[in-house]
Amino acid sequence: MNNFIFKNPVKIYFGEGMIASLSKEIKPASKVLMTYGGGSIKRNGIYNQVMAALKECTVIEFPGIEANPDYDTLLRAIELGKKENIDFILAVGGGSIIDGTKFIAAGMNYEGDPWDFIIGKAKVPAAKPFGTVLTLPATGSEMNCGAVISRRALKEKLSFHNPEGFPCFSILDPTAIYSLPKRQIANGIIDTFIHTTEQYLTTAASPAVMDRFAEGVLLTLIEKGPGLISAEKPSYNDCADFMMSATMGLNGFLAMGVDEDWATHRIGHELTALHGLDHGVTLAIVWEGTMDVMRREKEAKLLQYASRIWNITEGTTDEIIDNAIARTEKFFNSLGVKTRLSDYGIGEETIEFIRKRFAERNWNLGENGTITPQKTEAILRSRL
Ligand code: NZQ
Ligand code: ZN
Repeated sequence: MNNFIFKNPVKIYFGEGMIASLSKEIKPASKVLMTYGGGSIKRNGIYNQVMAALKECTVIEFPGIEANPDYDTLLRAIELGKKENIDFILAVGGGSIIDGTKFIAAGMNYEGDPWDFIIGKAKVPAAKPFGTVLTLPATGSEMNCGAVISRRALKEKLSFHNPEGFPCFSILDPTAIYSLPKRQIANGIIDTFIHTTEQYLTTAASPAVMDRFAEGVLLTLIEKGPGLISAEKPSYNDCADFMMSATMGLNGFLAMGVDEDWATHRIGHELTALHGLDHGVTLAIVWEGTMDVMRREKEAKLLQYASRIWNITEGTTDEIIDNAIARTEKFFNSLGVKTRLSDYGIGEETIEFIRKRFAERNWNLGENGTITPQKTEAILRSRL
């Protein structure tokens, strides 16, 4: 077990009707910058609930933050927030809105170009206070201090962490899931699944208790996932389980004392930057390749995963691992997601581009730093 420090300051309001609690968290007469996306919150009634709870405040709206939030859009929000001298920022949406808001909240306290803190040229400044109303369980962004920002003009998608940039609070109402398109539910299940494996399918040295927590999240997703996709309106409890799994998957809890991988994510981000694929889809494509190519380093954990998650115990080591990878891919497919690069018209050119880019960035990925750009190439090649 590795040494660790754990602190998570985010106050969570969980359950139906909790959006009304906004009035307890944001002081009356505050000037609030409210960030949101393309309008789903207007169609499902969340916008009205937020406005009712903030009736004592001055609300300045910044709509139009896109999926995979874009640097140029966020710069306009920073400008607006500075001009209006706002007191608080409220993100209402999924991971893109929350991540974008983390960038806005830090950027408002920075004089230079905020891209500086994404590329490590400057320390990320302490963020303006912000809270979130989560509408899509997937990223865990509502309870962590990370964010992923896209810069379409450069075809880049990069992350940053800001220990002084956690949300002050997050409101998680599982009924928000009722209006989600099935495609986004599938993305959220896969994203949560792979956040968990990034922290679980690594070295054999992790604490037994953390393995069991991670396995609990994976088994919950496998149990609840198919019903969430097939039901016309999934049950409240299934939605609540899904939402809680997503938050627990990436709020720092599963990372306690363990080695972490994140190669599948880093490679997946490139597929979004270059081809605009949904984040969850990129993970469903890449994951099998990472497990296949890294099977020797991950052997002990893959065998444990095969046995405890899929009840696969018969065969040689390689047969067991192959079978566990195949079962996982079948699970992603059963959610309606295709898992091959060729399904999305992506080929050799992209693989070569990513290999070169990772070499320029000096990126050796994985829990042991052994996924060289050549191994990244092999991972992607296995997914053609
Ligand atoms: O824009 P609107 O109209 O609101 O529609 C959104 C958007 O089109 C829609 N949606 C959200 N909630 C809805 C809804 N539609 C109907 N009903 C609802 N209740 O869903 C679409 C996708 O939303 P988005 O926020 O992009 O999805 P997600 O939560 O999957 O976020 C993806 C982003 O988060 C990053 C990803 O890279 C990507 O940029 N990630 C952030 C992480 C973090 N901060 O820790 C970790 C993750 O690994 C991930 O990288
Ligand atoms: Zn993710």
